[in-house]
Amino acid sequence: PTTEFTLSDGRKLPAIGLGTWQSPKGEVAKAVEHALKNGYKHIDCAWAYGNEAEVGEGIKKAGLPRDQFWITSKLFELHHHPEHVSLAIKDTLKNLGLEYLDLYLLHWNINWQVDAPEGVLPTREHTVKSEKSGKVLLDVELSDDIMPTWREMEKLVDQGLVKSIGVSNLNIHRVKKLLKEARIKPVTNQVELSIQCPQFELVDWLHKQNIQPQGYSPLGGAGGSALRENPEIKKIADKHNVGVTTIMLSWLVKRGINPLPKSCTPERIDQNLKIIDLTDDEFEAVNKIARSVPHKRVCDQSHDFEPYYDIYQENDPEYN
Ligand code: A2P
Repeated sequence: PTTEFTLSDGRKLPAIGLGTWQSPKGEVAKAVEHALKNGYKHIDCAWAYGNEAEVGEGIKKAGLPRDQFWITSKLFELHHHPEHVSLAIKDTLKNLGLEYLDLYLLHWNINWQVDAPEGVLPTREHTVKSEKSGKVLLDVELSDDIMPTWREMEKLVDQGLVKSIGVSNLNIHRVKKLLKEARIKPVTNQVELSIQCPQFELVDWLHKQNIQPQGYSPLGGAGGSALRENPEIKKIADKHNVGVTTIMLSWLVKRGINPLPKSCTPERIDQNLKIIDLTDDEFEAVNKIARSVPHKRVCDQSHDFEPYYDIYQENDPEYN
């Protein structure tokens, strides 16, 4: 099976990465250390997960030479304002104890309204909330046009603080808009991808643009256990003498996707790195399951903001 994907800028992305969203502070350092000491070359993190410093602790304890591993982090939607981007990357690099990131992603295509003193990196305490609904208010202009933010991210590449830049949670319509104006093209788009959220159309389109799809919640998240009991997938897993989760991850890699399974359990971390080659028939069988099961998302934050913003493909009125 594929062990790495070549990005449009020529850099090699390790095919499996350890996810750290919802990894508790007290466990994530050990999980990261274990992963890096046992063959993982890619850790996916984000400022928003609130555990970057602990991820950094794990990286340090693993003690690998810097060019032997790949670290992705993300610019949070509190920090899209052009003057906040350089503050945000500095904070992330400090948290992680690194001099550069391999990949920096624009985390969401929405931007929260913030009210913070000049020169201060906004936190959730600086968000502006609607008096009526209590929801976080969006900065509509920056949410609509990510170019001012993207230009700042391009500068980070020029400065050597990040090697590559990409996006996350963007639908086709929004990536298209970005491609028209970007000086540096996004190398990846990280979105939710699993059997219950297969996003066939988006993934095909990204491949055609030479943008590497990355998949979070590839096992259906913490609540994905029903999917893990699917008898048809179980049959394929038994044939290969592996767990159902291995089939889920192997199917994603065969689709040309970089999955980012989250775990804080050493045995599962090890297990998730072992991808197998599915036969064409097995691959088609899983495709069929993904087309027929009810689709849902682990991460649905489309209704948490005012004004309401359609951040998903299927809801975007401008799509196509
Ligand atoms: P834990 O972290 O306790 O090991 P996803 O990557 O889709 O978000 O899924 C993460 C969830 O799946 C977590 O609850 C994680 O639990 C669990 N998980 C991760 N790897 C495996 C595995 N190989 N087998 C079963 N459950 C797993």
